[in-house]
Amino acid sequence: MAPSQEAAPTIHHLFDLSGKSALVTGASGWLGSSFAQARAGAGASVVPSSRDLKRAQDAATVLPSPKGATHHGVQLDHMEVKSLTNGFEEAVAVADKLDILVINGLELSGKDLTNISFEEFARHQVNNAGYFELARLGRDHAVDRGAPATIIVIGSMYGMVGSYPDAYEGVFNASPVAYHALKGGTIHLTRHLAVYWAEDNVRVNCISPGPFPIDGMVPEEMVNRLSNKSPMKRIGRPHELKGALMLLASDAGSYITGQNIVVDGGWTAW
Ligand SMILES: NC(=O)c1ccc[n+]([C@@H]2O[C@H](COP(=O)([O-])OP(=O)(O)OC[C@H]3O[C@@H](n4cnc5c(N)ncnc54)[C@H](OP(=O)(O)O)[C@@H]3O)[C@@H](O)[C@H]2O)c1
Repeated sequence: MAPSQEAAPTIHHLFDLSGKSALVTGASGWLGSSFAQARAGAGASVVPSSRDLKRAQDAATVLPSPKGATHHGVQLDHMEVKSLTNGFEEAVAVADKLDILVINGLELSGKDLTNISFEEFARHQVNNAGYFELARLGRDHAVDRGAPATIIVIGSMYGMVGSYPDAYEGVFNASPVAYHALKGGTIHLTRHLAVYWAEDNVRVNCISPGPFPIDGMVPEEMVNRLSNKSPMKRIGRPHELKGALMLLASDAGSYITGQNIVVDGGWTAW
């Protein structure tokens, strides 16, 4: 006999974020602005963050508010623990509470394995320390409130597979060695935290985007090579990450934790 579906929420209810509050770091960036739009579009109150307060506030003003939720920008630099703590506290103050964390910001390192220094490599790994610290603040906040929370960290296909040198040869720096090391760690950090915090009702998941080069930032020839390597023969567009984000941020993903959802047009499936 089929189990009773009487008490099951509707599909609309599962994806609805009304009444939820979400912090999105790096929310003025290429992918971060799309993540913030997705949260707000689903009814959440969004707190976009940036290292620059004005940029964060500007990001908040352009967000939709279909159900009347308000959005406020905060300053947050995840390479500085004081800034992280202050930014998180400010986010809780302006939103009353936080249910969803999207840890997306990244301090870039343009150097590759031929020219990066020891100090630059080490500095890049501090991004993960910031991701952890912010996740821990989110978990402690949820436990203090006695409420569930969902934490989504942004990884990368380059945390799973090595570089594809042919895409870069002669047109751009090789993909940064420190970035590969960082994002591999980000994906595994996710699993570790998910296991420890599951009993706290805090879900921790990762989204690993494939090639989503920022418009105008890399040579067209490189975009063509990335596209040709992809089974789908094209690069991704930022809105194509919204579905995975919605699944993990909402009750639709209530039994998903410790996972790395890969949105890469099939890149890692070869
Ligand atoms: N684009 C891709 O192809 C791709 C592929 C795989 C994974 N990803 C991941 O997606 C995430 C977003 O990347 P993106 O492509 O959207 O790049 P992006 O446009 O450069 O956005 C990165 C954002 O990070 C913020 N940021 C920089 N340093 C920070 C710091 N110290 N603390 C907090 N925030 C900081 C910046 O915001 P402010 O300057 O306003 O602070 C910036 O808007 C990254 O984690 C990246 O690794 C991207």
